[in-house]
Amino acid sequence: MSIQNQQTKLNIGLFGFGVVGEGLYKVLAHTPTLNAQIRKVCIKHADKKRNAPATLFTTDANELLSDESINVIIELIDDADAAYRIVTAALAGKKAVVSANKKLIANHIEELIALQQLHDVPFLYEAACCASIPVIRNLEEYYDNDLLQSISGIVNGSTNYILTKVFEEQKTFDQALLQAQQEGFAESDPSLDVNGIDAVNKLGILLTHAYGIIANPSEIVHTGIQNLHADDASFAKEKGYEIKLVAQAHKLQDGKVAAFVLPQFVKNSQLCTVKNEYNGVVIESSLADKQFFYGKGAGGYPTASAVLSDLSALRYNYRYEYKKLLYQTPSELSNDFYLKVTISFKGLFHVQHERFDKIYEWSSNENRCHITGVLHFSELLNDDWWKQHGVSIILSPEGIIDGYVPEKVSEEVEFVEAVA
Ligand code: HSE
Repeated sequence: MSIQNQQTKLNIGLFGFGVVGEGLYKVLAHTPTLNAQIRKVCIKHADKKRNAPATLFTTDANELLSDESINVIIELIDDADAAYRIVTAALAGKKAVVSANKKLIANHIEELIALQQLHDVPFLYEAACCASIPVIRNLEEYYDNDLLQSISGIVNGSTNYILTKVFEEQKTFDQALLQAQQEGFAESDPSLDVNGIDAVNKLGILLTHAYGIIANPSEIVHTGIQNLHADDASFAKEKGYEIKLVAQAHKLQDGKVAAFVLPQFVKNSQLCTVKNEYNGVVIESSLADKQFFYGKGAGGYPTASAVLSDLSALRYNYRYEYKKLLYQTPSELSNDFYLKVTISFKGLFHVQHERFDKIYEWSSNENRCHITGVLHFSELLNDDWWKQHGVSIILSPEGIIDGYVPEKVSEEVEFVEAVA
């Protein structure tokens, strides 16, 4: 259904009444100018107490999907498989769809683009990346592929919240994670946040809108904050760095794109100012230089604000055109570049120093060894030694060293003695 008329009422079928769904319900009740009304809400557990009239709820998805008076489906559930069935059925039924489901979108983006085209319906998902920050629409509309040099972002609110609480407020990891869950920032399976999976799903979506790249998130190099150690924080502090989990994509000299999610030491960067559940994205374009987007990246109201903005966009029949994918030559991902990283570990046998092309610095104490050096990206792509056995990897502030000229490590004996 196309909703071209500003007067057309948005009759909404809502799936999910969690933190975001309830936030949206409350906000819509106070936004009469939008001319939008939630007609029915489909929930999983009928007997759970809800802050809305009981007549609004059903457990039967078809009540919403086959109701011809419903012209918009909003999908806000966290089960990506069920969300896939709902979204594809809604698009096939020619209903406009708004979703916040990063996992669903990242894993099925190619098919979902095809369905939008086939059924000629809009599918909007600004809330899926960085919640309240309008990053998808900006990448889609504003930045031309040739000008967009890089995107570096803190795109997961829960891990940023945990890093802030642990490294700046001396909370334990478990306390901080529990708080993130209680505040409604974390996924229902919080390992998706902690292990960097939520962030890589968001990066996958951003790559499509920024560079026209369709990439399976599981094939993008990523890790989270699961192996960061207290000694990594001390190491960072000594150097005046902070540690952030950063999703990034950089256009290389050869025109291809380097993309990954890794913890990174940051200094003198706008990302240093991003604390707690806030997200921040630095976009670099060749003419404008750096621009910084900042806002709440998780939580009921911030996420609902993005859903609301999508609803409003449906009024003028806004839809993503996927310009970089469909009207320009899409970029390709590269695996051929070097990174400057610090590897932090306990047992020397877990880290082969031959993997490094160059070692700048190493240090060790009774808890942890740190090696800072240059790795070819393929060392991370081809196996996962760098996230096994408690090994952690932290990108240096300079990150990618584009145009690096290789010079293999040779000081083997001295190195082994120093870290042993
Ligand atoms: N769990 C997600 C986060 C929610 O912490 O960023 C918002 O996508």
